[in-house]
Amino acid sequence: MEKPLVLYIFLFYWHFLNALFTVEAPQSLYTVEHGNNVTMECTFPVNGKLKFRDLSVSWEKNDEKKKQVYALLEGVEDFKSQHSDFKGRIKLLKENLHLGQSLLQITGVKLRDAGVYRCVIGYGGADYKTINLKVTAPYRTITQGVVSTGENKWKLTCQSEGYPQAEVIWQNGEYEDLTDKANTSYETGSDQLYRVTSTLTVKSRIDEIFYCIFWNKELQENTSAILHIEDSGDGVMWTESRRFTGAILIVTAFFGSALLFMLCVRKAGAHMDNRTRATCSSIAKLSKDKNTHDCRDTSFEEEELKCKKMEKT
Ligand SMILES: *[C@@H]1O[C@H](CO)[C@@H](O)[C@H](O)[C@H]1NC(C)=O
Ligand SMILES: *[C@@H]1O[C@H](CO)[C@@H](O)[C@H](O)[C@H]1NC(C)=O
Ligand SMILES: *[C@@H]1O[C@H](CO)[C@@H](O)[C@H](O)[C@H]1NC(C)=O
Repeated sequence: MEKPLVLYIFLFYWHFLNALFTVEAPQSLYTVEHGNNVTMECTFPVNGKLKFRDLSVSWEKNDEKKKQVYALLEGVEDFKSQHSDFKGRIKLLKENLHLGQSLLQITGVKLRDAGVYRCVIGYGGADYKTINLKVTAPYRTITQGVVSTGENKWKLTCQSEGYPQAEVIWQNGEYEDLTDKANTSYETGSDQLYRVTSTLTVKSRIDEIFYCIFWNKELQENTSAILHIEDSGDGVMWTESRRFTGAILIVTAFFGSALLFMLCVRKAGAHMDNRTRATCSSIAKLSKDKNTHDCRDTSFEEEELKCKKMEKT
């Protein structure tokens, strides 16, 4: 009869101790954007001054196999047990321990950091809580391209990176769906991110607009870009970004003027009209080399007109 009683007393004592010592997780779900930092928090009771040597703190990640994220054993940090996934990106804010806070900071959060974490604390008693970490990667910046592929025909391109796979929806200015005519490809890059590239070939007049929408179903988030078909002087636009277009225009203008100057010097006696023509074909050639436009299709008059326009800018 004695044994069960001892056991009972022991169990009672154990529960009593554990009832006194409870770890809490003020927030059980953290959502953080890929590349940012996150600090997850657990609290535990500290009565009076913290006895560091009695304290053990452990953060583990519950993947198929348990991965040690951080360990402090009886007051001493142990980085040897740390899983390679977390090397160099983990910090426990030790200055908060005496307040009864176990704050784990992960810097440069990766998609594969998402999952369930367990925060274990031993300090007299022992207890743990689980915390969920969700990592998002919105399709934030869209790189766009508009290229003329012939008479009133345009190749529109939108590209972005994110997670998970986004659908790309195309619309014209009247919000009619053109997705069927588009071609979307997915590549996996670094850290599970998807590089999504979508191309739409359309017939369009100048001044029409088109939309590409990256629809991230899981995040219930849409990111969109407006593509503007416009006559940009030489009839072609390729905007990886506005700055890039600007750079091309400046470079083209610079070489254009340099050529003009050289031709002026060489053919000082030549007629004004001839000079414009010579410059025009030079610029046309330059544009062609840059793979932006093929002047061969266009009539000479058109060419001349464009070049005159360019000279003005
Ligand atoms: C993340 O934390 C590191 C180290 O504390 C800091 O240098 C960096 O600026 C932080 N990044 C962000 C996005 O807050
Ligand atoms: C989409 O792109 C792939 C690969 O470049 C090509 O094989 C396919 O024919 C394209 N589909 C359409 C509808 O353009
Ligand atoms: C995102 O856009 C698609 C297509 O326009 C639409 O069906 C969906 O409801 C939108 N979702 C949100 C969250 O705005």
